[in-house]
Amino acid sequence: MAMPPSLRFLLLMLLLAGSGGATAAAFDLEEATIDSIHRAFAAGELTSRGLVGLYLRRIASLDPELHAIIELDPDGALAAADRADATALSSSGALPLLHGVPVLLKDNIAAAGALNATAGSLAIVGSRAARDAGVVERLRRAGAVLLGTASLSEWCNFRGPGIPAGWSPRGGQGRVRLYRFLFLGFANRFLGFFSAPRTVVTMQRRLIFGWLMQNPYVPWATTCSSSSGSAITAAANMAAVTLGTETDGSIMCPSSYNSVVGIKPTVGLTSRSGVIIISPRMDTVGPIARTVSDAVHVLEAIVGHDPRDAEATSMASKYIPECGYRQFSNLDGLRGKRLGILRKVFSEHFDIMRYFANAIIICFICK
Ligand SMILES: *[C@@H]1O[C@H](CO)[C@@H](O)[C@H](O)[C@H]1NC(C)=O
Repeated sequence: MAMPPSLRFLLLMLLLAGSGGATAAAFDLEEATIDSIHRAFAAGELTSRGLVGLYLRRIASLDPELHAIIELDPDGALAAADRADATALSSSGALPLLHGVPVLLKDNIAAAGALNATAGSLAIVGSRAARDAGVVERLRRAGAVLLGTASLSEWCNFRGPGIPAGWSPRGGQGRVRLYRFLFLGFANRFLGFFSAPRTVVTMQRRLIFGWLMQNPYVPWATTCSSSSGSAITAAANMAAVTLGTETDGSIMCPSSYNSVVGIKPTVGLTSRSGVIIISPRMDTVGPIARTVSDAVHVLEAIVGHDPRDAEATSMASKYIPECGYRQFSNLDGLRGKRLGILRKVFSEHFDIMRYFANAIIICFICK
């Protein structure tokens, strides 16, 4: 029996979707956490090399729309992933905190090797770093795999007044991924709270789940400055975790506009050596991730004294808890808490206000 071409194509896509190898089938990349990644490693369902491949494919499919990546280093990442996989095979003890976990750096953080740190500017393309930034040294020590650099507002938004958030000459205009929850798109569509947003959906999804699943981005919404690429890539599952930097709002604002978790560490808790900063009194490097737990893992990995940023880090490192930060992570931490809703901060942007209201309604329904 002759199948209509569209049905044949759909079947082909379904087959392709199911044949991504053992790695892709057993492990769900969407919303993966460090814990879920480590569980998949331990169960033999996933390797760090396989995971790097999954993120590179995801980046290839989404970044043409989102403009959230400036550079990738696939060869360096795969080599580091292979080393992580070999370590896992040969060691019987506990593996380091970020073992085999792919990370994207904001483009103002230097890493020795192929990546250029340019703060999004064309002015210093090709000026490769002689050594790792202090935080990158710690990331590598914790077993992380560097995928590449995420876009930002050029010079961390210190280029001049009136420059759009998330824009740089190297990265183009970064685009926000406003919310990540399937049920919000679902509710939007079927319950009709608000008109459905213009969406960008990956090809495979649109074909297979198009009637049900929206993977919505709001291309016209602001990303907020300046660690926008780090927040967009975390939200869109283009890396496991990312690093951003903040002078005044640059971790927290893009994190909140992209529905991810950012931690702005006290100045000096994380080293600024090898980072293009604006002000030594204010700048700080911190994690941006999809969950609080992931952000805490990264924070624990990158804090500490660095002789190359001696004054600030020696003062702040006194406050690092002896057993790290993960001891304070508590799944039940919000039980019984009353939440205040801060509406005013979102009111500048009508679209964000709509989805914010939507999210609150859904929270009540889910309760
Ligand atoms: C770093 O910059 C150089 C010079 O422009 C370029 O050839 C190289 O590809 C860049 N590195 C990466 C990883 O893109």
